[in-house]
Amino acid sequence: MNTKLKRDFIKICSDGYKQGWHERNGGNLSYRMKDEEVKEVKAELNEDSEWKEIGTEVPSLANEYFMVTGSGKYFRNVELDFEDNVCIIKLNEDGTKYKIVYGLVNGGRPTSELPSHLMNLEVIKNRNEDLRVVYHAHPCNVVALSFVLPLDEEIFTREIWEMETECPIVFPKGIGVVPWMVPGGKDIGIKTSEIMKEKDVALWAHHGMFVCGRDFDEAFGLMHTVEKSAEILVKVMSITNEKLNTIRPQDFRDLQEPFNVTLDEKFLYEKSSKKIGEK
Ligand code: 13P
Ligand code: ZN
Repeated sequence: MNTKLKRDFIKICSDGYKQGWHERNGGNLSYRMKDEEVKEVKAELNEDSEWKEIGTEVPSLANEYFMVTGSGKYFRNVELDFEDNVCIIKLNEDGTKYKIVYGLVNGGRPTSELPSHLMNLEVIKNRNEDLRVVYHAHPCNVVALSFVLPLDEEIFTREIWEMETECPIVFPKGIGVVPWMVPGGKDIGIKTSEIMKEKDVALWAHHGMFVCGRDFDEAFGLMHTVEKSAEILVKVMSITNEKLNTIRPQDFRDLQEPFNVTLDEKFLYEKSSKKIGEK
């Protein structure tokens, strides 16, 4: 296989690894393929493989094809041996089963987070047909903040937004927060996809982040923007727990017109405390 899609998939895996977001097998990636991308590789697909249970139902994704990282596979190795680490799966006619039609040539299965990926891919497709990428990574700073900021989407979003002017423009719907949960199953997939019905970013407390996008650049850029802001906040908090200066609610409101974004007023509360993480 030698397609642009394969090259782009490899690039985000390598870029994420170089950022330090993918220790060992940490993180996973999925992409809902376009019809023309499936046609391009059709001759290389093996449709005789056996159907397996997804562990959830995603009827809006019935019969579609996805490029997905393998479970236990290292992002670092994707560029070295794509066919060993990545697969293409096809879903059955009611979106309850999948089969591997390409890749994972030395055995294995798609990511253990497949239920979360597919449930997210389903809700974002229903939001906008062009949204095709779901990306999960383990970036240090945002995970660190999940230990010290309240696990409240209003506070989390506001504190991250205040760290970089770009933030409300890049993710105007804010960050949804999933409290610590057992990863790898349907339950965490339900919680995450409830957030992704509206937002492009979900934090998994003490674990990592899920983001979505129309393409790999957008998904990577979103992960990078949130993590960069989280890094600035970690630096600020290592100096002080009170800010002398910051971006204020009216400043955020003033961004809306020139950047054509609408910000939910719930994130723009007047603070009665100067302490980071307090309302
Ligand atoms: P997988 O190797 O199964 O993709 O799991 C990695 C991970 O980050 C789980 O949340
Ligand atoms: Zn993870």
